[in-house]
Amino acid sequence: MEVLAVDPASPDETAIRRAADVLRRGGLVAFPTETVYGLGAHALDPAAVARIYEAKGRPTFNPLIVHVASAAAAKTLARTWPEAAARLAERFWPGPLTLVVPRRPEVPDAVTAGLDSVAVRVPAHPVALALLRASGIPVAAPSANRSTRVSPTTARHVVRALGNRVDLVLDGGPTDVGIESTVVDVTSDPPEVLRPGAISSAMLAEALGRDVVMAPRSSGSKAARRSPGMLARHYAPSAKVRLVWPDDAVAVRSAIEEVSAQGRRSGALLRTMMDLPVSHLERLPHDPAAYARRLYAALHALDEAGVEVAFIERVPDEPAWAAVRDRLERAAR
Ligand code: TXA
Ligand code: MG
Repeated sequence: MEVLAVDPASPDETAIRRAADVLRRGGLVAFPTETVYGLGAHALDPAAVARIYEAKGRPTFNPLIVHVASAAAAKTLARTWPEAAARLAERFWPGPLTLVVPRRPEVPDAVTAGLDSVAVRVPAHPVALALLRASGIPVAAPSANRSTRVSPTTARHVVRALGNRVDLVLDGGPTDVGIESTVVDVTSDPPEVLRPGAISSAMLAEALGRDVVMAPRSSGSKAARRSPGMLARHYAPSAKVRLVWPDDAVAVRSAIEEVSAQGRRSGALLRTMMDLPVSHLERLPHDPAAYARRLYAALHALDEAGVEVAFIERVPDEPAWAAVRDRLERAAR
């Protein structure tokens, strides 16, 4: 495994060409996007895609997002391009939005997990875009973490999680958005949000001129069957996570004492709460976007500190917090 540092704003051409070569030859390249780091492989090469599943320990029923440099390139992977796709791509690409569209047969089953749809995205990060343009191929890329664990927002997180399972890591510094893209299924009517992200339901509705629906999260739901990656524990640190209300400080303190009495390391991730008697404390900003940017680094820090039980302050039950709330609830499962 090799790590190449690149300027996130204007990446060095030689480094990008090297990475593009690795991808074209069927290798794995981890690269920064504006959301999180991705683990990329040639999307039209089933053997290369199989290496992604192996490196991540990802169940093969969980499909991948294909990254391309433009909406025109995305269309070449789609059997049809619904009106909703056209509007959303026009408004939000390049950006943290993934569209699920009907798939063309050329897209391997290895990418779509055999579904009749494919997820496509044009990322906004200069390094990701340069890599996609230089390689000239569609790049399948899940987040560059082991399956169910916390996504990486720095190259160091990638190296820690995947090590020699990846051929090359492009280090473009910490990512900006910090949580994964919004995933919208435009094959259903009305369009359905399968995963909330920085592009909110209100922003989608505004661009479409109509409301979108949130996919139900219960395991038996149609959406869950269509997007198996939405299920179960996910985005989780090694620690057992307990979500706590700021108002419950007294009960939380006694829960922490219990953990300590058992000789286990406790940690906390706080936003408004003043303090807790834990072995490792992380503070996050009040603003939802700033919180999202720093959340995964804080969860990685809990892991690195050997925390066994993490107390995470719940965030407000407001639309601006929907994406963060989703990640916290999954981490706590
Ligand atoms: O921000 C992101 O989207 C990052 C960066 C690297 O682009 N990627 C990412 O990929 O988060 P991953 O594999 O961790 O999450 C992809 C999600 C999964 O939940 C998967 O189930 C869903 O997208 N997905 C992929 N293809 C799908 C399809 N055809 N239909 C429904 N859901 C799909
Ligand atoms: Mg992921």
